Amino acid sequence: MTIISTQYASGIVNATEKAAIAASKLIGLGDEKAADQVAVDAMRTALNDIDFKGRIVIGEGERDEAPMLYIGEEVGSGNNDEVDIALDPLEGTTITAKGMPNSLAVIAAAQKGGLLYAPDTYMNKIAVGGELPKDIIDLDASVQDNIKSIADAKKIKVGDVTACVLERSRHNDQIESLRSIGAKIVLIPDGDVAGVIMTTQTDNPVDIYLGVGGAPEGVLAAAALQCIGGQMQARLVINNEDEKSRAQKIGIKDLDKKYSLNELAHGDIIFSATGVTEGTMVRGVRNLNSNYITHSLVLRSNDSSTQYIETYHKI
Ligand code: FBP
Repeated sequence: MTIISTQYASGIVNATEKAAIAASKLIGLGDEKAADQVAVDAMRTALNDIDFKGRIVIGEGERDEAPMLYIGEEVGSGNNDEVDIALDPLEGTTITAKGMPNSLAVIAAAQKGGLLYAPDTYMNKIAVGGELPKDIIDLDASVQDNIKSIADAKKIKVGDVTACVLERSRHNDQIESLRSIGAKIVLIPDGDVAGVIMTTQTDNPVDIYLGVGGAPEGVLAAAALQCIGGQMQARLVINNEDEKSRAQKIGIKDLDKKYSLNELAHGDIIFSATGVTEGTMVRGVRNLNSNYITHSLVLRSNDSSTQYIETYHKI
């Protein structure tokens, strides 16, 4: 049996690199849509060069609203293995348009059925990195209880625990709860895939990710955690009838289900994230001596490996 995470690694990494290079040309130009579109085009072209039977399970939207890389679109040559793909050609459209740090081009690929088919709705998420006692976090527990569990497990004070939270008014209560116990907060303007991954990185001071972000980004982050180690729970946030029917259409029966990490992503997975703008996790695209230089974080579940790949692309 093919190991997806090895066999198709170079093609997947090439696709995030090409999307990042394309989007990098629009950094700071104030046009989110255009930046996203060029990333989509470049990623799609690169995915179609891979000799596999790829199917988008997390993409740019549903077929009627996204002309390319829509959910259900087939990519690749159509030969060899069936591979499920979750992607975000530009994670952080606003931060790219504003020239701010930490935007990424992201793909997770897994064997068929390895990634949750999530609708394009919001998702409530909680995540921590590896090497912590099992079941240390609970999406339904209070912020205070989750922070205290982490502090106890890490043998640090509650005031030394750092939570990463998207800066949105919907998180005011959570932020207030964190402040009330003296926990530290890293507020991010966008980009919660990176927010979740930061909990796994020893050189990043983030212990826990909390809050509501995109459901597609939740599956991408879970795929990364499944490779690198960590814990995560999530639940869809369904706000109206339209979202309800979209979730049901892709096969979600229990709209209130609390998903475990394994239910979000499991099995043989490769995750690749290439920096678009300069970032804390990976460097952004640089243009030097007739080369674009890209920097990617590549994670594989089969050997739990983490790779940082710097590639020089001749212009
Ligand atoms: P886009 O790149 O698609 O704009 O997503 C950025 C992002 O910050 C995600 O990381 C996050 O999950 C989501 O938007 C949060 O959504 P909203 O901006 O609506 O709060």
